[in-house]
Amino acid sequence: MNTLVIGSQWGDEGKGKVIDFLTESADFVVRSQGGSNAGHTVIAHGKKYVLHLVPSGILWSGKVNVIGNGVVINPASLVEEIAYLRGLGVQISPENLLLSDRAHVVLPIHKLLDAAQEEALGANKIGTTKQGIGPTYADKVRRIGIRMADLSDPAHLREVLSARIVTANEELNRLGHPAADMQECLADVMQAADILRPHITDTIPVLNKAIRSGKNVLFEGAQGAMLDIDFGTYPFVTSSNTSAGGCCTGSGVPPTGIDKIIGVCKAYTTRVGSGPFVTEDADIADYLHGLGREFGATTGRPRRCGWADGVVLRFSAMFNGFDEMAMTNLDGLDACEEIKICTAYKLGDRTLDVPPALISDWEQCKPVYETLPGWKQDTTKCTSWDQLPANCRAYLKRFGEIIGCPVGSVGVGPDREQTITIPR
Ligand code: GDP
Ligand code: IMO
Ligand code: MG
Repeated sequence: MNTLVIGSQWGDEGKGKVIDFLTESADFVVRSQGGSNAGHTVIAHGKKYVLHLVPSGILWSGKVNVIGNGVVINPASLVEEIAYLRGLGVQISPENLLLSDRAHVVLPIHKLLDAAQEEALGANKIGTTKQGIGPTYADKVRRIGIRMADLSDPAHLREVLSARIVTANEELNRLGHPAADMQECLADVMQAADILRPHITDTIPVLNKAIRSGKNVLFEGAQGAMLDIDFGTYPFVTSSNTSAGGCCTGSGVPPTGIDKIIGVCKAYTTRVGSGPFVTEDADIADYLHGLGREFGATTGRPRRCGWADGVVLRFSAMFNGFDEMAMTNLDGLDACEEIKICTAYKLGDRTLDVPPALISDWEQCKPVYETLPGWKQDTTKCTSWDQLPANCRAYLKRFGEIIGCPVGSVGVGPDREQTITIPR
C-alpha cells in the first residue's frame, strides 16, 4: 500500500505528525518536492523534532528515507540537520537516508537572490522563508541548475559552481546587492558535498523496485495545496507543485504506483507569508496565540489564523483526489462557543464554490459561513470516536459534507498517541 500525504491548506497542517503516525506500517518514506522551507514537527518519546529536508520516517528505525529528484537540497543545511538529528539520538547512515542524484542543489547565492528579490518587491513581497527555494527552482526551469549528481567529482563541481556564482553575482549587482564571496560559497558547498556523497544515488529504480516487491511507500508532502505553483494563491505561493501530481514528477514513481491520498488539514486555517486568506479572523488569531499556539516551527513567526475554509478544502480535495482527510488540532477549538466553516465565497453578487484564478478577485472574496455549536470540553484525553463530545462529532461529519471528502482521522494533541481513527 503506497500512501501520499498532502497539506490541503497553506502548509503547517500537521503533516509531520500524520506522517509519523503512518510510518509504523511503511518501509520507505519519501519527500518529492520543496526543500528546507518545510518545517515538520514530530513529538515522540517525549522529545520534539523539527524536520526540514529529512523525511520524518528517520525517527523510526529500519525505514528507508528518500529525498527525491523533485526536492531542492541545500547541502550545508542538510549536513546541519543531520547533525541536529544525531544530537537527538537519531541514527542516520547511507543505508537509511538516500538522496536523488537528480535533485537540484540550493546554493548560498540562491538564498542571497531570494532575499534580494523579496526586498525588490517591497510591499508586494511574497514573505518567503528566504531559503533560496524560488531561485533554485528558477534555475532548474531555466536549465542552468546544478544537481546532486554534480557533487560526485570535486573538480567538476568547483568548475560548475564557480561559473554559476559569477552569473549570480551579476544578478545580485543588478538588484543593488553586494556580490557573494566566491571562496566562501565554494567552501560551503564543497565541504558539505564531501559529507553527503555516500548518500547520493539513483533513487528512481530503488523506489520502483520497492513498489514492485510489495514494500509500503509513504510520500511526505511539504507545504500545502494553496501554495502550489499552479493551483495556489499565485503569485503568493512556493515554487513547486505541492499537490498530488508533484509526488510523481518529484520521485519517479508513476501515478499507478499510488494507492491512497490523504489530505491533512487543521480544524481551522493558518498561513504564514502574504496573500489572500478569506477566512482570516483577528479574534481566532488572538485566541490561538493566547493559548501559545500557531507560532512557526522554523522562524517562530506568529501564523495568520482564521476559520476553516470549505472553498479551499473542496478545491484542494478535487485536484488532489483525496480519499480522506486527516484533521489535526481539533483540540484548538475546545474552548470555542461557536465554530464557523466557510461554505462559499461572495465575489460582488456572484457566489463561488471554488476559488477564482485572479488574485485581485480572490482578495475581494467574502466568506459565507455556516455556524455550528462548540463542544466546550477538553478533547485532548479522548482516545476514540465514541469519547468525542457529540457536538464535536457533528462538526467533523458536517466538515466532511461541506468539503466533499470524509474526515478519516483527527488529532487531539501534538503527541504521536493523540490521534483518533474515525470509523467509516
Ligand atoms: P507541518 O509543517 O504540516 O508538519 O506542521 P508544523 O509542524 O509546521 O505545524 C503543526 C503544529 O501543530 C506543530 O506544532 C505540531 O506539533 C502541532 N500539532 C499537530 N497535530 C496536532 C494536534 O492534533 N493537536 C495539537 N494541539 N497540536 C498538533
Ligand atoms: P511546511 O512543509 C507554511 C510559504 C512561505 C511563503 C511562500 C513562499 O512546513 O508546511 P518559499 O520560501 O517556499 O519561496 O515561500 O510559501 N511556505 C510555507 N508556509 N509551511 C511551509 O512548509 C511553507 N513553505 C513555504 O511562508 O508564504
Ligand atoms: Mg510546517
